[in-house]
Amino acid sequence: MSNENEAFESQFVEDATSLILDPKHPGLGDVEYLKRREHFFALAREYRLADKGVPRVEYTDNDRFVWREVCAKLKPIHEAKACKMYLEGRKILQIPTEDTPQLADLSAEIKELTGFGIAPAEGLINFRDFFGYLARGKMLCTQYLRHHSKPGYTPEPDMVHDVLGHVPFLVNQEYVDYVRLVGRASQLASDEQLVAFNRLYWFGIEFGLIEEQGEIKVFGAGLLSSIGEMEFCYSDEVTRLPFDIFDVTQRDYDPTQMQQVVYVIPSVGEMRKQTEELIRKFGLDASLAS
Ligand SMILES: [Fe+2]
Repeated sequence: MSNENEAFESQFVEDATSLILDPKHPGLGDVEYLKRREHFFALAREYRLADKGVPRVEYTDNDRFVWREVCAKLKPIHEAKACKMYLEGRKILQIPTEDTPQLADLSAEIKELTGFGIAPAEGLINFRDFFGYLARGKMLCTQYLRHHSKPGYTPEPDMVHDVLGHVPFLVNQEYVDYVRLVGRASQLASDEQLVAFNRLYWFGIEFGLIEEQGEIKVFGAGLLSSIGEMEFCYSDEVTRLPFDIFDVTQRDYDPTQMQQVVYVIPSVGEMRKQTEELIRKFGLDASLAS
C-alpha cells in the first residue's frame, strides 16, 4: 500500500543540490513538467539559501487543474473530519480552491497574525535544517504541484501537502509557539535525541488525530492533505492510541506505507506539556531558557 508518505522517506539524508525525482514520479516522462520542476527547484533553493523571502511564481493550467481537483475532493472530508483549529485557519486565510494560491501572500498574512512566516523549499530538506527553520519562526513550504496525470498521488511533498496540510495552522498562536519550541529544542538535541523529535513531529504534527468534544478529528498535515490517509486512519486496520510522548518517541514509522498506528492528542496544550517533559528529560531545558 504505497502512497504519498514516501515524500518523507529521506528526511535524514543530505539535501540534494540538484533535482532528483523518485523513479515512480508520474511526471518523469513529461519534458515540460520536468523543466518546470527544475525551475521551481532552483528558484526555491536560491531564495531559501539567500533568505530572500518567497518568490511569486506563475502557475500553468495543469497546475490549476490539479489544485481544483484536489481541493474539490478534500472539501467534504475536511468539513466532516478536520479539527476546529484547521477549519478556522482555512476560514481566516481564505485559501482559494479555484486558483492556485501564492505562498508569498499567505506568508504575509500569517506574519501579521502570529509573526510566523513561510520559506520556500525546493523539495525534501533534512530534518535538522527543517527544524532550524521552525526555530526561527518559519515553515518550509514547496511551491510546485504534483503531475496532472495523477492529482491524488505524489512521491514527494508538494503544495497540496504544505498549503492544504500545514499552512492553515500557522495562524494559530498556540500552534506556532508549539512548533517553534520543538524547532528550538531540536537544534540543541544530539543525533539520538533528534530521532525522538522527528518521531514526535511525525506522529503529532503530520499524523496526529485530536479529541474534540467527544469526537476524534484529524489534526496532522499528512492526513489532512491525503484523501486515502484520512479515510484509512478511521478504519479497523489502524490502531489509534492515546498520545503518550514516551511511547511516541520510542516508535519507529514506515514512511512508505499508510500509517498503521496513529495517536490521538487530547489537545495542543497537552502535547506541549508532554513535550516540555521530554525536553527536561533530555536535559535541554536550561539551554532553551537561556
Ligand atoms: Fe509535512
